[in-house]
Amino acid sequence: MPTERTSIHGQWSSRLAFVLAATGSAVGLGNIWKFPYITGENGGGAFVVVYLICIAVIGIPVMMTEVLLGRRGRQSPINTMRTLAAEEGRWPYWHLLGWMGVISGFLILSYYSVIAGWALSYVFRSGSGMFVGADAEAIGNIFTNLISDPERLLAWHTLFMVITMVVVARGVKSGLEKAVTLLMPALLVLLVLLVGYAMSQGEFMRGVHFLFDADMSKLSWQVVLIAMGHAFFTLSLGMGSIMVYGSYLPADASIGKTTFAIAFADTLVAILAGLAIFPIVFANGLEPAAGPGLIFQTLPIAFGQMPGGTLFGTLFFVLLVFAAWTSAISLIEPAVAWLVENHSLSRAMAASTCGIITWLVGLGTVFSFNLLSPAEGKTSFFDMLDFLTSNIMLPLGGLLIAIFAGWLMSEKSLQDELAMGHGIGYKLWHFLLRYIAPLAVLAVFLNVIGVLV
Ligand code: PFF
Repeated sequence: MPTERTSIHGQWSSRLAFVLAATGSAVGLGNIWKFPYITGENGGGAFVVVYLICIAVIGIPVMMTEVLLGRRGRQSPINTMRTLAAEEGRWPYWHLLGWMGVISGFLILSYYSVIAGWALSYVFRSGSGMFVGADAEAIGNIFTNLISDPERLLAWHTLFMVITMVVVARGVKSGLEKAVTLLMPALLVLLVLLVGYAMSQGEFMRGVHFLFDADMSKLSWQVVLIAMGHAFFTLSLGMGSIMVYGSYLPADASIGKTTFAIAFADTLVAILAGLAIFPIVFANGLEPAAGPGLIFQTLPIAFGQMPGGTLFGTLFFVLLVFAAWTSAISLIEPAVAWLVENHSLSRAMAASTCGIITWLVGLGTVFSFNLLSPAEGKTSFFDMLDFLTSNIMLPLGGLLIAIFAGWLMSEKSLQDELAMGHGIGYKLWHFLLRYIAPLAVLAVFLNVIGVLV
């Protein structure tokens, strides 16, 4: 039996509500914007294979664990870790893991909001018919004009931050469930439509080969690190987002099934995005390694050419903003929950405080595409922030979660909370959590640092 503790923040109305919210957190810019561009930068198929393996053997077990810890502690990740460490008679400073998550959340949201701002501005660019009949060069110019203008980026970043904080202030549970139920399937339909376009007009098979032909010679430890980091990023793991959502999960919901559903939906969206984008890249002589602008330089070509493209394009960017929005909310929820618990702030005050700090950090990303853009070959503030959070902080968070639950919690606590019996499913999860996930993360870290080579 799970513990009898309840969350002061309330509970999801059902297991389905949790699945929807957690899917909303997982599916976002990571799937549609980031997955294609980092796949392009890292050579395609081999990168995708490593990413998929990481989802299966690290992501899913760690996600189950985060939900488990959250539901057992029923508080913000910082306080959950403090309570569980005390209950299990462990070192009291495990709550620092919660703190690292809060910092990761701030840092990720700071740039996430800027990129979501790009998507927001594309709603209007598409709606005004700007893409109709435009070729790859014209579409490329539209993108360059946007990111080289700091004032415009700042305005969109600000707008996105405001709409995110309004929802956070009202509480993640009101409204979110209904919106996700409707809009997630709509996003899926539009992605399928885009794949259909890519099949008929793009170099579809070249796209498929690029995504799935695994040329292992393209792998380096650096590439493996990026694939692993992305598995954490895309599933919202390693920083407490899923943990805090787990803390609102009703006691009788099955954690295993729920996690599979979320990971499956997330992977499906990423693969569909890849299948939509790369055929267009190849058909238009574009560069797969074009970087963060990739979807903004490819999809508008498709919208500009297909019948009804203005409508579909506008809808697509609306849905992309929505997907980014439901992820952004979850990035800040651990910090907001902690402020409410420990400083008795209202949600509105907590959200505004977090929003202002994140907005300020976001200025670094805004300017890294224009005023402070680095010389050729040098890394920008945005690149550094992304590398630090996705490839170091999230996997480190995941490693510590795996060590805490796999090695320091009693099996009785785990089994009580997971309530999946002692069968093969439980054994497999426990084995992956104790051995595979931590060792894999450690091995990749050590190899990248060069200790083993
Ligand atoms: N999973 C989100 C995406 O793929 O866009 C991003 C994200 C949300 C990362 C929440 C981390 C997180 F805690």
